[in-house]
Amino acid sequence: MDRFARWFIIMSIVYFGIAAVLGICMLFSDKAMAFKFVHSHLNLLGWVSMMIYGVGYHILPRFMGRPLYSQKLGDIQFWAANIGLVVMLFFYMLNVYQPSGAYVALTVIGGILEFVSIVLFFYNMMKTLLPKAQA
Ligand code: HEM
Ligand code: HEM
Repeated sequence: MDRFARWFIIMSIVYFGIAAVLGICMLFSDKAMAFKFVHSHLNLLGWVSMMIYGVGYHILPRFMGRPLYSQKLGDIQFWAANIGLVVMLFFYMLNVYQPSGAYVALTVIGGILEFVSIVLFFYNMMKTLLPKAQA
């Protein structure tokens, strides 16, 4: 299994654990409800998307009987997805405690990096799955 595929799966389980603890806190405390966006995106961009990235990188090229289009892009996507998610959610939380334009800007930058990672996955998978043009 490629290193980035394995680490996507490991990180997805880590985010799942953190999101579940935050979900329980939200059940107990109204204050924790301010972090609903953090809980939902730890689950949906962390647990769900990263599990799909990891399993998808391993299995989908094998379904096609050919290697992944680019290992390098897979590696870059791993870092973009993880740094993007952590930056977006960390500065979102800081902004809840102490609203500031700088924190909002950094939250948006994290979100854009997350979006870049989605585009990289889309491109790498399409290049792997679509039939090659005839020469
Ligand atoms: C231990 C497990 C979990 C607990 C205790 C938990 C708890 C919560 C709570 C208390 C809320 C706020 C509900 C409200 O607005 O009144 C919430 C929202 C949400 N949770 Fe979870 N959750 C858990 C697991 C998950 C999982 C596995 C996912 C997705 C894969 C998920 C996705 C969401 C989403 C998308 C929202 C926002 C829904 C909305 O805006 O209405 N949660 N969760
Ligand atoms: C580039 C990635 C993403 C960004 C920047 C992003 C951003 C946002 C923002 C700004 C909101 C509104 C939060 C609020 O009302 O306070 C939101 C809500 C939501 N998003 Fe995303 N999102 C992303 C990816 C996703 C994905 C991949 C899913 C599902 C698989 C998803 C599911 C949801 C859901 C269910 C809500 C409503 C629950 C909530 O308010 O937390 N998002 N998202």
